[in-house]
Amino acid sequence: MNSSILIELALQARIRAYVPYSHFAVGAALLDDSGKVWFGCNIENAAYSPTNCAERTAIFKAISEGSYNFDSIAIVGGPQDIKRPQVFCPPCGVCRQVLREFVNPQTFRLIFPKNQVLTLDELLPKSFGPQNLHSDPTVLN
Ligand code: THU
Repeated sequence: MNSSILIELALQARIRAYVPYSHFAVGAALLDDSGKVWFGCNIENAAYSPTNCAERTAIFKAISEGSYNFDSIAIVGGPQDIKRPQVFCPPCGVCRQVLREFVNPQTFRLIFPKNQVLTLDELLPKSFGPQNLHSDPTVLN
């Protein structure tokens, strides 16, 4: 699937953002290796901290339904009243770390408007992942 289609799907996902507090709507479209796209939007909460970002909504939906291998994610975000935000909406640190758990940081791509594409490794360098829990602590890396 090409990047501009995935961006369009992220814009579709964004329509469902529940953002009565920030009025900042984010949409994500997560492409898995089977070609299925998982939609996510941010979902805010009156207590604020339970808010879930669009990226985590998408990946948690996928994982909870048995999809574990991912190719890329498109992310679009901006003020709710702007229909097609074109600015770079970087995923928050928590979402980067959640993605890190399930993807290869070297190959997984994050797609943004205006054909901007970054790998997770570029956004979260020297990250801590599952293998760090199992690596030999006496071996220098
Ligand atoms: N938000 C996301 O959905 N994804 C991000 O990566 C950045 C922030 C949401 C959380 C909150 O609902 C709103 O944007 C403002 O921070």
